[in-house]
Amino acid sequence: MTAARKVLVTGGAGFIGANFVRYWSECYPSDRIIVLDALTYAGNLANLESVAAGDNYRFVHGNILDVATIDELMLGEQVDTIVHFAAESHVDRSIHEPDAFIQTNVIGTNNLLMAARKHWIDSDSGPAAHLFHHVSTDEVYGTLGPDDPAFTEQTLYAPNSPYAASKAASDHLVRSYHHTFGMQVTTSNCSNNYGPYQFPEKLIPLMIVNAVTGKPLPVYGDGSNIRDWLYVEDHCRGIDRVINQGQRGATYNIGGNNEWRNIDIVNQLCKSIDAAFEADDQLAAHFPDAPAAGGKKTESLITFVKDRLGHDWRYAIDATLAESELGYKPLESFESGFQLTLNWMLQNEMWWRAVMDGSYRDWISKNYSADD
Ligand code: NAD
Ligand code: TYD
Repeated sequence: MTAARKVLVTGGAGFIGANFVRYWSECYPSDRIIVLDALTYAGNLANLESVAAGDNYRFVHGNILDVATIDELMLGEQVDTIVHFAAESHVDRSIHEPDAFIQTNVIGTNNLLMAARKHWIDSDSGPAAHLFHHVSTDEVYGTLGPDDPAFTEQTLYAPNSPYAASKAASDHLVRSYHHTFGMQVTTSNCSNNYGPYQFPEKLIPLMIVNAVTGKPLPVYGDGSNIRDWLYVEDHCRGIDRVINQGQRGATYNIGGNNEWRNIDIVNQLCKSIDAAFEADDQLAAHFPDAPAAGGKKTESLITFVKDRLGHDWRYAIDATLAESELGYKPLESFESGFQLTLNWMLQNEMWWRAVMDGSYRDWISKNYSADD
């Protein structure tokens, strides 16, 4: 597709979606971007401030559970490309409140597919070319032992959390619309993302916020669980490759080639924060509750807490297919990506304080008591 596209980005006010909207509007300024987002606790218009001024951009406050809204947008905007990020995305929440995950991740994805089918396949006036790109996760493949090979696109699905199960269901629905109705679809399954605008309930931003505000750093279990970490902009580059070059109907794994144990990440993060405070006196004045402000080690905050139920031990992505077929390669090492993320969090206190108000704090205190 070379002509300007009309791209519907669902969940574009969330962490990865907002990074993607900014990335895409810079790379493809003639494409029109329509963001559809329900602004749940994880969605935030502040994430989109830098793109909000563009003429080729529209934000719609709406829910993918609302079929009429999707229909109206598909028709009114003559959408030819859907990039589907909208989801409930936090494993811990899915353990306590799975229903919202089934609603948004399964029913919501099906609503989008039904609307796409109606406007792209069943209609005589559909666009000449179309694409439904579905953003998914490596968690659909289950968990790995220490010597298991990394997940490939052929690995059998074995989702272990309600979150992973709901994403697996949505992947299967997308696949079925290709097979049954001939819809042009692509799916990417990626590893753990980190970077600017990530809601501070996920490991890395949560630990940074707690470290600078002097709160415990809760490490689940013994901290030996392993994740493959992917800087969010590398993920956006990977999605770009899949959308522009990927085979229709295919799935691509996108990873960072960065496997780390949780405890090693947290230790590294503590050292980086200590170094940042040593290098910049103003940080101590700004974050007086941080141990580093008083010359103490941030690692003193590390607290081992009760393990997550059904906690997957290891995720690892084999991105050979995306590398060989699409030329995908992550640009950031974990060290460089982490430094970018830490700097962003230190410079954007207003952002994380604003998103962490009210409902989120209530939820955390209800589900995770201090002695957990
Ligand atoms: P996020 O939780 O930060 O953002 C989700 C966004 O979707 C929010 O803006 C929210 O308001 C919106 N949303 C939720 N329910 C909605 C609904 N019913 N209708 C419309 N909008 C709704 O999530 P994220 O981390 O940016 O993840 C984006 C996608 O990437 C998800 O599909 C997730 O499964 C996938 N993914 C994320 C990671 C990761 O490490 N964060 C890893 C692999 C895959
Ligand atoms: P998370 O960021 O929630 O991503 P996911 O569950 O999708 O991998 O968690 C990453 C890892 O960090 C996971 O093994 C759980 C662990 N973890 C903690 O040890 N403490 C925490 O406070 C959080 C949020 C996660």
